[in-house]
Amino acid sequence: MFEAHAISAADKPTFYAELAQQLEGLLHGETDPIANAANTSALLYDAMPELNWAGFYFMRGDGLVVGPFQGKPACVRIPVGRGVCGSAVARRASILVEDVHAFPGHIACDAASRSELVVPLMRDGAVLGVIDLDSPAPARFDPDDQAGIETIARIYLAASYPAGRPGPDTIGR
Ligand code: SME
Repeated sequence: MFEAHAISAADKPTFYAELAQQLEGLLHGETDPIANAANTSALLYDAMPELNWAGFYFMRGDGLVVGPFQGKPACVRIPVGRGVCGSAVARRASILVEDVHAFPGHIACDAASRSELVVPLMRDGAVLGVIDLDSPAPARFDPDDQAGIETIARIYLAASYPAGRPGPDTIGR
């Protein structure tokens, strides 16, 4: 049985190395993408300081639909190219936002949010969705956080979409 334990790391790379190890253990032996997204968002929200939202959006048809998350209820559908999440899909790249009020088109699901990090979930050149983290603290995320969450995304994808498994469009459309 997996047991999460508090991470006391002096620096972010060490913190993310330990977080990655915990996620490997948490997802070990499970391939269900929704179950794994639920546990991944719970681990992120529990382990990372100063978050008010941590979760997933998945591509469904031509837009994003909210998936498992921790935090306040969120907007359900985000078109590609809209908000930070839809922009990360359109750019096929992570987006670090130090001040959400300065990001044109930012979608405020929780008025408390001040900064945001969105990392796309990529498999075989296709965007399957995004991991989205929000913080009430300005400039909460830096390139170390981005690199750490990109590793978390790779672990989630490797566990949930092993080679040969159909993509997420077969799940609950
Ligand atoms: N702020 C996001 C919307 C999703 S919520 O933060 C959970 C955006 O601009 O895409």
